[in-house]
Amino acid sequence: NWSMDDFIDLQIEHIRETVGNKRVLLGLSGGVDSSVVGVLLHKAIGTQLTSIFVDHGLLRKGEADQVMASLEGKFGLNIVKVDAQDRFLNKLAGVTEPEKKRKIIGNEFIQVFNDEAQKLDGIDFLAQGTLYTDVIESGTDTAQTIKSHHNVGGLPEDMKFQLIEPLRSLFKDEARELGEKLGMPSDLVWRQPFPGPGLGIRVLGEITPEKLQIVRDSDLILREEIKKAGFDRDIWQYFTVLPNIKSVGVMGDGRTYDYAVGIRAVTSIDGMTADFARIPWDVLQEISVRIVNEVDHVNRILYDVTSKPPSTIEWE
Ligand code: XMP
Repeated sequence: NWSMDDFIDLQIEHIRETVGNKRVLLGLSGGVDSSVVGVLLHKAIGTQLTSIFVDHGLLRKGEADQVMASLEGKFGLNIVKVDAQDRFLNKLAGVTEPEKKRKIIGNEFIQVFNDEAQKLDGIDFLAQGTLYTDVIESGTDTAQTIKSHHNVGGLPEDMKFQLIEPLRSLFKDEARELGEKLGMPSDLVWRQPFPGPGLGIRVLGEITPEKLQIVRDSDLILREEIKKAGFDRDIWQYFTVLPNIKSVGVMGDGRTYDYAVGIRAVTSIDGMTADFARIPWDVLQEISVRIVNEVDHVNRILYDVTSKPPSTIEWE
């Protein structure tokens, strides 16, 4: 008779037993998984937990502030926030290949994290928000690696931490349930999944500050409209992407030659398979009008009507 309350009690007991009086480090990504791990660990070991939140400049609009306000402000986690936007953008300059971008972001993430971790004394454990699906998709022995997920493995060998991954047996919906049981606010718990490489894989091809801005601004509009229409819980993931396409348009009296923005919205149970969401036309229209009107350098909106498979959820 498995219940979430039992799970929490068992995990807390297990964490306390494993950790003893040592210190634990957690990498906060801003997503549901690492946030839930943070709150769970804080509940189990309080000030023995230190979290590092790397702002790689590839987060959604307002996300970093929200994470800090909630996890530090409300839950009292001890968070070291690192503003590393420039570091990441420099490393990514001129890089277009998706897996290469992922590797760079993943490696840089670990390095920034490592640099910060070295400033802290006596840390023995590293906590991660790895889910069951991460374990499968990253392919240990049987499953084939589809995309490298940078939150699994990939730790440099000189990092002598022992891993704590309390969500390793859970699916996403269970991680959310856990978060709710821990008293986390629903806007945090029901936050849609967000990939570690962030907007870096939603700006297709080379990443530039201008392109990031377009994705950030258009994504915020999409999120606002989806929420307003009441679909924010039914749709598993919804976001905008910036394909490397410029096309001709007409605005006012003039011809424009600007970017097209893609909208990706899917329903799914666990992200392994997905169906494109049937967003009503009038909602799509509102989103389209707002993005073109409010976001500079955009004159066309595309809606992705492919499922997974054959497509993946992300475009890169
Ligand atoms: P795909 O695009 O493979 O995505 O259908 C499945 C789920 O995984 C997320 N995703 C990632 N998460 N690092 C992550 O932490 C990654 O590199 C990565 N790539 C995709 C994606 O957002 C979706 O929820």
